Parts: sequence; structure tokens; C-alpha cells
Amino acid sequence: METRSQWGTRAGFILAAVGSAIGLGNIWRFPATAFENGGGAFFIPYLFALLTAGIPILIMEFAMGHKYRGSAPLAFKKMNKKTEFIGWWAVLVAFVISTYYSVIIAWAMSYSVFSFNLNWGSDTEGFLFGEYLNLSVDPGQTGSFVPGVLIPLVLVWAIVLAVLFKGVKKGIEVANRIFIPALVIVFLIIVIRALTLPGAMDGLQAFFTPDFSQIREPGVWVAAYGQIFFSLSIAFAIMITYSSYLPKKSDLTNNAFIVGFGNSSFELLAGIGVFAALGFMAGQAGVAVDEVVAGGVGLAFVVFPEIINQFPGLNALFGFLFFASLVLAGLSSLISICETYIAGLVDKFKISRTKAVAYGGGLSALISLLFATQGGLFFLDAADYFINQFGVAFVGLVEVILVAWVLRKVKDLQGHANELSDIRLGSWWTICLTIITPVVLGYMMFGLFKKNLL
Ligand code: PFF
Ligand code: NA
Repeated sequence: METRSQWGTRAGFILAAVGSAIGLGNIWRFPATAFENGGGAFFIPYLFALLTAGIPILIMEFAMGHKYRGSAPLAFKKMNKKTEFIGWWAVLVAFVISTYYSVIIAWAMSYSVFSFNLNWGSDTEGFLFGEYLNLSVDPGQTGSFVPGVLIPLVLVWAIVLAVLFKGVKKGIEVANRIFIPALVIVFLIIVIRALTLPGAMDGLQAFFTPDFSQIREPGVWVAAYGQIFFSLSIAFAIMITYSSYLPKKSDLTNNAFIVGFGNSSFELLAGIGVFAALGFMAGQAGVAVDEVVAGGVGLAFVVFPEIINQFPGLNALFGFLFFASLVLAGLSSLISICETYIAGLVDKFKISRTKAVAYGGGLSALISLLFATQGGLFFLDAADYFINQFGVAFVGLVEVILVAWVLRKVKDLQGHANELSDIRLGSWWTICLTIITPVVLGYMMFGLFKKNLL
């Protein structure tokens, strides 16, 4: 049996955790979510969710991984044999995500190349679904491979598997040391350029203007919690796994604050950059900003290409940098999702890391090929829907209830974290975990089930 891998440095761990957190959720999910849920007023529920759930759960997961030195299934098993399954459930969710997150990174890779010749033309939506994805078959059917997706997808997996084969310190840590600083620099260039476009200020005004009446809407709070969970990669088995590789003496609490605020800072930066660009686009089209707001695939692959089309001077470079930032942010998150099942396999079956990467990563890569076929987008939608409805918040809720109420491990974990940190966790932390988070998540899940089943 191999001894447990370890990070080389504290900065290496922080960069890897921040790399997992910063992803498509920050760049294409946060800006539209904030805008639709009260604009400037969204920051109130958002900060509340960050401070009552995001950072407290991050500390809890760090403490679990570190104290029990195991990936999610093993950490849960060491707390109580009967709860191993919840770790595997989180791992399964992560596995499903890895099969399609990789495909979106592949699209971004293609589009970074398309930027140079503006291949998408003037009908960017028609290009995406028609020429590029070749969606000419019925839902549920799948056609032949789409080479434009297949080739970059193979490249994505080649990079990710190579990094994972190299191991925690020589692979994951080294990759994040390159990707994350590069991402921050590229993104700062994009934001500064976007802010100097005509109309940028209108975009920012639309983004930040608070609609305080929305704060009374429960849906806005649900959106804030959902954003924080997805964005911080909590309840996905990731942060437990990453912290299991920390050396014995590690300030977990402090690390969690750095990762939490680092991720939110990037989110804010992305909101500013995206809305500055949207303000420019609205100005060019002579419409109000809210008519051009989009999130997700639509923002990145339909709206941004349009913005790049109209961009004054050097649009190829701007386009390339934007899509390169998606690739960098996506790769570091994908690596972290894959590490959850690799660590799970190594811990459970005592196989070598090499075998675990080959079986686990290999299977995910094979399944992802399905999304590189004509009609593959329909599967992608279905997978994403399944994850968002039954994955994240549900695992989060079960996880918190198990730790806080069933296994009653809050005091243990608090003691463990406090021994290692100057920041003392007091009743704020225990109240968040035992009361506030279960109540809010329970309410969220109740609403979801009502919507889906009644
Ligand atoms: N935290 C990442 C983001 O904000 O894009 C997304 C993510 C990565 C979610 C890894 C889940 C995950 F397992
Ligand atoms: Na994020």
C-alpha cells in the first residue's frame, strides 16, 4: 500500500482548493444569478449564505478530511461505518459532473481557436447548435461523432489524466500553480478592457442597482445558497479529499477563509467584467441591458461571440483570452472533481493511484464521448438537470444533518480545527452547522420536492 500523498506547500493546497472553487460557476453562473435575484440587493443573501453555510461547511469538510485522513467515503466511514454511503453518493455526483463538465471545456477550447477568424459568423446561436454541435437529430437519439467536439475533448482528457497520473504534489499542485495565476492575470486583462468599452457603466449600473423588494422572496435566498454550494465545491466530496492530503500541522480555519473569500472575490470580478461587456453590447444594439443578459451556455457561446464580433480592435485577442479563461478555470475544477473518485478508489480498494486514474478517469472520459456526438447536448442537459435537482443541496443537507445531529461530531471537529488555528471557532460556527444551515437547506429541498412531485 502506498503512503498517503501530501501537498508540497500550504500555498499549493490553497491554490488547488481555489482552483476547484473558481470555475464556470463564477464566470457564467454568478453574474446572471445575481442580476435576476435583486442585483445589488442579492449581495445580502449571498453574503449571509457565504458566512452561515459556505465557510462553516468548508471548515467542516477541511476538518473531516484532515482529522480522518480520507477521501469522502473513508472519512464518513471512520466517523461511523453506516455513513460511508453518503461519501459515495457525493463521489457519484462528482463523477456524473465530470462526464459533462469536460465537454464544456472542450467547447471553450474550440471557441478559443474560432476567435481568431470569428468562425461563428453573425448568427452565433445558429452556428453553435447547427454547424458546431450539429444537433440535427431528435432528442434521445444520437448520431455520429462531431469531430469539432471530439478532438478538443480528447485533448482535455489527455491533460487532466496526465496531471492526475503525476499525483497530488507533482501533478495537481503543479498544474494549479500554473493555471490559477495565469487565470487571474488573463481575467484581469479582460475586466479592465471590458470596463473601458462604451456602455460599460450602463452594464454595471444594471448589475449593481439593488432591488430590495426581492430580499423578501424565498427564491432569492435559495438562489444564494445554491450559488454558494456549487461555487465553493462543497458537498461534492472534493474539499474533504483535498484536505486529507494536508500535513498534520495545518491551519484549516484560516485556509477556509482564504478559499471562501478568494472564490467570492473572483465571482465579483466576473460579474463586473461580464456586465461591462453586456452594457457595451446593449449600447451597440440600442436596447436595455436586461434584454441581453444571459447565463450558462448562452452567455459563453452565443452572447460573448456576438460581443467579440462588435468589439473595437483586437477582437481576436479578446475572444481568445475570454475562452482561454474558461478553459483554465474549467480544467482546475475538473481535476478536482476527478480526484474525488480516484481517492475514493485508492482508499477503498487499496489499488495504486495509476490504476485508479486509469479506471476512474478512463470511464468518465469514455462516457463523456457520448456528449461529443450529434444529439449529445440532450444527454448533457439531462445530466445537468439531475445533478442540480437531486445532487448538490441534497447531499449538503444530508451531510450536515449526519455530522451535526446523527453522529454529533461538531464538537470533535471544532476541537480539531481549534487546536491548529489562531482563529477560534465558537458558537457562531456550531449554530450555523446545527441550526441555520439544516433549516435553510431543508426548506430548499422541501420546495424542490413540492415543485417536482406535486
Ligand atoms: N466550483 C466550481 C464552479 O464554481 O464552477 C464548479 C464545481 C467544480 C462544481 C467541481 C462541482 C465540482 F465538483
Ligand atoms: Na466557484
